Amino acid sequence: MNPPPDLVATLAGVGQPQLLAFWNRIAEPDQGAFAAQLKAVDWPLVAQMQRLAAGGGHGREPVIDLAAVTPPCLRLGDPTNRIPPADAIRRGSEALGAGRIGAILVAGGQGTRLGCHGPKGLCTVGPVSKANLFEVLFGKLVAVRRRYGPDVPLAIMTSSATDAETRSFLADHAYCGLDPDRVFVFRQHDLPALDAATGRLLLDGPSNLALAPDGHGGMLVALAEAGGLDWFGSQGVEHVVSFQIDNPLAMPLAAEFLGYHLLSSADFSTQVVRKQEPGERVGVVVDCDGRHSVVEYSDLPTEAAAERLPDGRLRFHAGSIAVHAFAKAFLDQSAARHDSLPLHLAFKAVPFVDADGHRVIPTSPNAYKFERFIFDLMPLARRVCVVEIEASEGFAPLKNPIGAASDTAEHVHAAMVAHARRLLAKAGVHVADGVDVELAADRIIDETEILGLLESGTLLDRPTVVGG
Ligand code: UD1
Repeated sequence: MNPPPDLVATLAGVGQPQLLAFWNRIAEPDQGAFAAQLKAVDWPLVAQMQRLAAGGGHGREPVIDLAAVTPPCLRLGDPTNRIPPADAIRRGSEALGAGRIGAILVAGGQGTRLGCHGPKGLCTVGPVSKANLFEVLFGKLVAVRRRYGPDVPLAIMTSSATDAETRSFLADHAYCGLDPDRVFVFRQHDLPALDAATGRLLLDGPSNLALAPDGHGGMLVALAEAGGLDWFGSQGVEHVVSFQIDNPLAMPLAAEFLGYHLLSSADFSTQVVRKQEPGERVGVVVDCDGRHSVVEYSDLPTEAAAERLPDGRLRFHAGSIAVHAFAKAFLDQSAARHDSLPLHLAFKAVPFVDADGHRVIPTSPNAYKFERFIFDLMPLARRVCVVEIEASEGFAPLKNPIGAASDTAEHVHAAMVAHARRLLAKAGVHVADGVDVELAADRIIDETEILGLLESGTLLDRPTVVGG
């Protein structure tokens, strides 16, 4: 079969006829699927990507506005905050008790680099239970329901690489105790990669484009298109938190954090940790003439990252941990605009089919991938609330394979055990030296639940999942 004439004309018009170079080699049943994939490409967006690649490119030097400063932050539990912590806890608890809070879990990433197959959510992190990231993070919502009553409606963002396995995991594990009617799975979109030399799209095989997920910012459009924002509305949700699959200590539903967000009437609130060293791979929240934004670590010039204030803190020390809270009305407005989230480009090694039809796996970057970041909504927010938390309380990301200097499974293990030990100590529970302990994610939020389970003065002298 010949390629559809309208497709041939379109590709000629946009300067991409090479995409049909191997059409005659494609088995007939696959030709239809490939034609559909090509017809679905958003060519005006590709033109925008090409302009970005031509203008920015990999030689671009990162710059930061001279006026940028670290904004003032509220601190969890700090009595000197402009909003007293007790007021925040009360307000956040009320909202959870009234079922006004929803959540979005960003789970499009794969675990391959960490040596675990399939979605990153399947990576094991429970120090004693061996629970995976999905189980730990879904468990947190179950624990919130136990304490406050209502379910927290949860939208889970998957990608083309993780969608099917995430759905089967949920079905096979009875949604880890969540009510299936309160879970909404939606898939982010993919974007084509562009050959850096020619600006053309690349083929990953004779009958498919080289594509990559469109970044966690893809959640805005994908959620809206899938009906997820309306779904939240139908569940009575007025504010939505978002958090990433890679952080088992994440506490997006901490009542105090939600309270600061609500009492500040913020459109966008975010949790940060104190960045200590210039090389830490976290974005930083900055305030530039009253407008807040996150500057990604790869975009922060090396000298600016290393600059210190007279008191020794880094000038840009508000490290973003990608735990946010949004007013739902703000998400609705942002989703309705077409220009809410800009594209970011990254220069990467992307496998491709060369002119002779051979698949090449490059060893150095050859192409641009494009992503949108959800934190780019921050400058559009009327009010932003930044809340600093202790990393030991809420940030232990699993990013790197065993052996790396930070953010490996070993670091996560140690952080989870240390966190459990601290909460147990607050409840008067002792743990013998060198013994691993874990708090059942679906039962324990903090020492309050521990006090209902163990007597003060108890000694744990063997590996234990408290509440498990
Ligand atoms: C990210 C943040 C960084 C922050 C750090 C905290 C970005 C661009 N950077 O860095 O500012 O300080 O986390 O841990 O977000 N994901 C998807 N779909 C995508 C891309 C990512 O679902 O298309 C998910 C991944 O599963 C992962 C998370 O988003 O859970 C973060 O992505 P990753 O690429 O690991 O970001 P980092 O570079 O670690």
